[in-house]
Amino acid sequence: MVRVVAKAILAVALAGTLSLAQHAKLQAIECPFPEGQEVASEAKCAEYTACEWTDGTCHMVSNDVGGYVVDGEVQDNGRGFKVNLKKADAAITMFGGDVTDLVFEVIYHEIYHLQIKIYDQANARYQVPLPLNVPDEPVQPRLYTVGVSGNGNPFHFSVTRISNENTIFRTQGPLTFEDQFIQLHTQLMSTYLYGFGENTHTSFRQVFEPRTTFPIFARDQPVGTDPMNEYGHHPYYMVVEDNEGNSNSVLLYNSNAMEYSTYLLDDGTPSLTLRTIGGIIDLHMFLGPHPEDLNVQYANMVGTPAIPSYWSLGFHLSRWGYNSTDGVRAARERMKAMGIPQDVQTCDIDYMERQRDFTYDPVNWGDMPELIEELHNDNIKVTLILDPALVIDFDNYAPSSRGKESDVFIKWSDPSLVPSDQEPGTDEYMVGYVWPDTKTIFPDFLKPETKTWWANELKLFHEALPYDAIWIDMNEPANFGTNLDKPWNWPEGQDPWSLTCPNNKWDLPPYPTMMIRVGDNQSKKISDHTICMSGTQTDGTKNYMHYDVHSLYGITETIATFNGLKELFPDKRPIVLSRSTFPGSGKYAVHWLGDNTADWKQMHMSIIGMLDFNMFGLPMVGADVCGFFGEPDLEMCARWMQLGAFYPFSRNHNTMGTADQDPGVWPEVGQIAREVLTLRYKYLPYLYTLFHHAHMHGNSVIRPLLNEFPSDIPARDVDDQFLWGSGLMVAPVITQGATSRDVYFPQGRWYDLVYARLVATGPTTQTVYAPLDVIPVFVRGGQILPYQVPALNTVESRKNPFGLTIALDELMIAQGQIFWDDGEAQEHVMSESYMSSLAYYQEELTMSVMHGQDVVAGINLETIDILGFPKNAESISVNGENIPSSGWQYDAAASLLSIYISVPLADELNVKIYYENGL
Ligand code: NOJ
Repeated sequence: MVRVVAKAILAVALAGTLSLAQHAKLQAIECPFPEGQEVASEAKCAEYTACEWTDGTCHMVSNDVGGYVVDGEVQDNGRGFKVNLKKADAAITMFGGDVTDLVFEVIYHEIYHLQIKIYDQANARYQVPLPLNVPDEPVQPRLYTVGVSGNGNPFHFSVTRISNENTIFRTQGPLTFEDQFIQLHTQLMSTYLYGFGENTHTSFRQVFEPRTTFPIFARDQPVGTDPMNEYGHHPYYMVVEDNEGNSNSVLLYNSNAMEYSTYLLDDGTPSLTLRTIGGIIDLHMFLGPHPEDLNVQYANMVGTPAIPSYWSLGFHLSRWGYNSTDGVRAARERMKAMGIPQDVQTCDIDYMERQRDFTYDPVNWGDMPELIEELHNDNIKVTLILDPALVIDFDNYAPSSRGKESDVFIKWSDPSLVPSDQEPGTDEYMVGYVWPDTKTIFPDFLKPETKTWWANELKLFHEALPYDAIWIDMNEPANFGTNLDKPWNWPEGQDPWSLTCPNNKWDLPPYPTMMIRVGDNQSKKISDHTICMSGTQTDGTKNYMHYDVHSLYGITETIATFNGLKELFPDKRPIVLSRSTFPGSGKYAVHWLGDNTADWKQMHMSIIGMLDFNMFGLPMVGADVCGFFGEPDLEMCARWMQLGAFYPFSRNHNTMGTADQDPGVWPEVGQIAREVLTLRYKYLPYLYTLFHHAHMHGNSVIRPLLNEFPSDIPARDVDDQFLWGSGLMVAPVITQGATSRDVYFPQGRWYDLVYARLVATGPTTQTVYAPLDVIPVFVRGGQILPYQVPALNTVESRKNPFGLTIALDELMIAQGQIFWDDGEAQEHVMSESYMSSLAYYQEELTMSVMHGQDVVAGINLETIDILGFPKNAESISVNGENIPSSGWQYDAAASLLSIYISVPLADELNVKIYYENGL
């Protein structure tokens, strides 16, 4: 018998008649209507036996009536325990198809990690087929206990942090488990809730009042401000529990369409409802205890992020609508003329012939191979876009005919579903329409044959156009005009046609989630903008309904592309930019936040998106700088270039038919971009070191303030500032016309990065002057940031000398690290990478090289800037030898001591400073 069963007392409160207070609480547990809450009425409520109308609200019936009862004793199995559950009353239902007998299973993994599954006792249901990293044996001791109600009592469970008895998960109301509707409610420790995605969040912290609901399901949905589901699927959240900053996080590992609601019970208790329309309940809970620990714990389970090639940390220029190779050349020339750093040039679908993958337009892009060569000679890498949908033109289009030979495309799950007007020769493939002027079919990237075929297509394509990176777009997967008369871009003069989904349980589920009512969902179906849920896919051993694996399309295409590029470039790290993502995508992908608009509010939302994706283990992220839709003015583009210079993935991109917005278009923006990108390039060694940590340990790269200061209450609401690791704080101006902004400085000393002066000693809020050419960026006392003399691209900058920015804290201490390698090798081999640790203490800097001396051969450390140094030095010794007084400079106004040396990065270093009052 498990110890936790002693917690059966929990059940007592739920058994028997409900008190008035309990009833009032229950009222907040809303009954969900497929049509939305607007239709709520007593009559509507009466249509559902699982719902009850009280005082003008339609809520779920109480747990003892509508939920499950514990049916038997707990069975301990060494790894955790299981207990059976039985539906309390078979007649109570939302949409029918209730599973009568369930298993509640607890699996212990790590000290800080447990898994809770609830599934059908008799019939295997769909579960996400992508493996997670969990230990073979459970690790002791555990930070948590799990309580479950006793035999014969209404089912209820809770998870408690042992150290302080914080109940981090406590179910309330009934569990609903139907074939196509699963619902669970929990109380939360606080309203400091973050995460879930990919959503149009307008604040990083979630909103509880008024009640807020967001759908989750991969969808081709541009950024907006209503609660919408966007490109990726990340049912993962974090809660900061108490004043000390103890935090937990939970992943609902389920890929079906879902939604979550945040609300307060009548007594103010923060609550969360999770709903999904398939699969099982599979919760992974982490106990941190602090937010950054959660990042590490979660990333280790889903896969730590890929380390990007060094060049991909440079600036990327892109647009849809260069329209010709000369359009690209003109943009590149503007960058050169203005001296703006750039590492990557991206080409969108306009380079293709009739928007067919793996081709290029022979008329306007006929000299594409020459263009790529020119760019390569200029040290610029080339990213090319590919869409998943391939045209049905088997006779003239080899990628599709080869695909057909290998049978790689998604099919209808039943031959009877093949529409009567489907193209001859398309067998049972599901046919749709996207960008090309010809109907398309969609590769099934779960299938092994597809991966082989795709890798081969990537290889053949590279023989024609020697690209460096691949951008996979539209991989939700997007399809135009589904269920409508015709797609919006249907060729004129042709009879209207569109992919129309059948009326069955997959395409018309009883509870389609709120996604059918948000955004531009014109057909009001879950297949809107995508393919039909009645498709079938296979991983070679099992078949899956597209209904279940829809949100895996992006990650499976990402893995196929990543592995294809790995084969193609055996010595290089693949760079795959993916629009759709899923837990685990960070191991392979770079992500941009999709189709935003040149709008100040959306500039702010891009910071929130970045923070969300760092939580999701995908730190290589950024938004379209200067906005995708619409046209920014000079001021907006200047401010966005400044913010974008601190996105890990820094790319300016815009849509077809809009004016050029690359920074060279306006001389003022060009100048501002040059300055701010030069600053970015200077600190790329620091950013790269952060990515090394992310890759090795699962840390975030972009951090919300609360990750570094979890017990700082005001910091929890800050989402217009962000950190690079723990050392650099960016506070961009994101308000039109502003020439200053308020900045929240958490505890400690903060120095201006450019002027090297102490600006604030936190915690404090200060107004900081920021005219158009200034983005406020601060170094945190206690940190040593490595930098390198910048250049116009990373090929050049990587050859330059290093420097250190040492920001002293109140105790005049600081520390840091430098990671370095060749910047592109596929395997991250320790012996082939350089790592040194830096410590500054009692006026003495030591650099200890841990490994990889050969990797930095020829690179010297030349400048050491010490910020917050109280006085000029009297003498300075480097590795035991005094240097001449011309070897340093002291700026008394800034309290900045700059020391000039020339020591190989490979060598151990000791710098001692003697000054009055000093050593
Ligand atoms: C949609 C993508 O989100 C956008 O970035 C791209 O420019 C267009 N597709 C055209 O490929």
